[in-house]
Amino acid sequence: MYEDKIIAALKVHVPGEIKLEIPPDPKLGDFAFACFSLAKEVKKSPVQIASELAQKIKKPVSVEKIVATGPYVNFFLSSSEVGAQVIADVLAQKKKFGSSNVGNGKKVAIEFSSPNIGKPMHFGHLRGTIIGNALSLIYEFTGHNVIRLNYLGDWGTQFGALMYAYTNWGSEKLLKKEPVKHLYELYVKFNDQKKKNPALQDFAREWFSKLENNDKHALKLWKEFKESTLKEFLRLYKLIGVTFDSFNGEAHAAKSTDAAIELVQKKKLAEIDQGALIVRLPNYEMPLMLRKSDESTTYASRDMATIIDRVEKIKFETLIYVVGHEQALHFQQLFALAHLLGYHQNFIHVANGLYLSPDGGKMSTREGKAIFMEDVINELIELAQKIINEKNPDLRNKKKIAQQVGIGALFFGDLMNDCSKDVVFDIQRILSFEGDTGPYLMYTHARAASIIDNAKSQKLKPTKKVKTELLAHPSEIRLIKLISAFSSAINGALLQYKPHILAQYLIEFGRAFNEFYHACPCLSEENKELKLARLALIEASRQVLENGLRLLGISAPREM
Ligand code: ARG
Repeated sequence: MYEDKIIAALKVHVPGEIKLEIPPDPKLGDFAFACFSLAKEVKKSPVQIASELAQKIKKPVSVEKIVATGPYVNFFLSSSEVGAQVIADVLAQKKKFGSSNVGNGKKVAIEFSSPNIGKPMHFGHLRGTIIGNALSLIYEFTGHNVIRLNYLGDWGTQFGALMYAYTNWGSEKLLKKEPVKHLYELYVKFNDQKKKNPALQDFAREWFSKLENNDKHALKLWKEFKESTLKEFLRLYKLIGVTFDSFNGEAHAAKSTDAAIELVQKKKLAEIDQGALIVRLPNYEMPLMLRKSDESTTYASRDMATIIDRVEKIKFETLIYVVGHEQALHFQQLFALAHLLGYHQNFIHVANGLYLSPDGGKMSTREGKAIFMEDVINELIELAQKIINEKNPDLRNKKKIAQQVGIGALFFGDLMNDCSKDVVFDIQRILSFEGDTGPYLMYTHARAASIIDNAKSQKLKPTKKVKTELLAHPSEIRLIKLISAFSSAINGALLQYKPHILAQYLIEFGRAFNEFYHACPCLSEENKELKLARLALIEASRQVLENGLRLLGISAPREM
């Protein structure tokens, strides 16, 4: 918005395309124009050009001053103009402030979470769930038509193992009561026993092949395993506020692998190697296996069939997979094959890192036992409840707020990190009410909300008709500029598939708000005009925090 006005003013004196830069240090202004390339054309030094331009350019209303610094022309926005503009925008757009239509209704399918039936939803799935959820929210907020996909791991040889284990050692009662845990125990027992008796693997393969051949008993067991586990997963998704449009997973895909393979064969891309059907892809040493020698489908063939199914039914422009980076090669090969088959949509693998335990090790087990996602979340909520009991024992709705704080801590603790990097999972740190954490930002939001609520007792309400020129304290100016940068933070996260760009912005925002809060009292301010201007700035800041947290999947209660 401001950028366009500056570019228009520059155009009068500068030929060709004009690009502005953001100076690395805000002391140098809000925008800068570099004069290097112009120097060649007009045969003057860039320093000379900059100083001449700074004199000549007509100042747009929103610009306070124009200064030449070396080869750059620097533009300083007038904070009262910007302030008036952003405060009016936020108070009018409210929950929509920061949204845009850059997506223009384009369809984006985002696959994330995708846990496996019969194995616990492990930490890797938790990261993908949190990141995929944030990306979906950010895509929606920027005008995309988002379809959320959960590609359940509900097919494959591990089902054969489970069926063998369940029919020999399982309990119907436990399967009903704690399906995820019971099936996991059976899975572990199977793998233990297999070490002593390798023939068990053959039984597992036999069971899986029965399943692939629609054997009634096998299908009945499969359905029981799937339905009971899914019910548990759904309860968890509901608790953390994550939704999906489809749970079509590997079992759904297995039905159409034959057709997919036929297509690959028609294009003469496949060959038989030691009884298995494989595709050799240029530039990859490892071939992609589409059918095993015993005729069963593979992970790759099911994924291939799924792409074709999604192209036909969803008609997406972009398909994003949020899956751990250990599967990077699988997706590179899958996308390469899709291109060979003539699919030229955008396929993107957002490869997330792992969780590490505070001692730096891999975070999949604790004292040798698997960690269940639901246990971790419940632990976080309980700890949040304890903290709230100490800090604010009279709080209404304590239980619900503890839930929001626990989940907010978990989500923000993840999303503040570059999603491609591994992150250390440290419960105490992410739950802290101080520092760069979810609870700290939620608390900052509640602090702003409480000022707005207390203002009511003085019969004051935030409005956009305030004298923004009174907001001249450095911390007020900083806050105004940050509010005007909210949508760039959202777009940055969108363009790079990296929610941490938004999370880091919110950290900066939280710091700026708290500085302002301590330096510039509102309700006790005697100058009524200044008090009202601050009240409007507080409400605008509160709204930015609410919207920003919401885009990361985090609730912002007004009290905590
Ligand atoms: N269920 C798989 C796992 O837990 C992840 C699925 C990833 N998505 C895919 N289309 N292959 O490892």
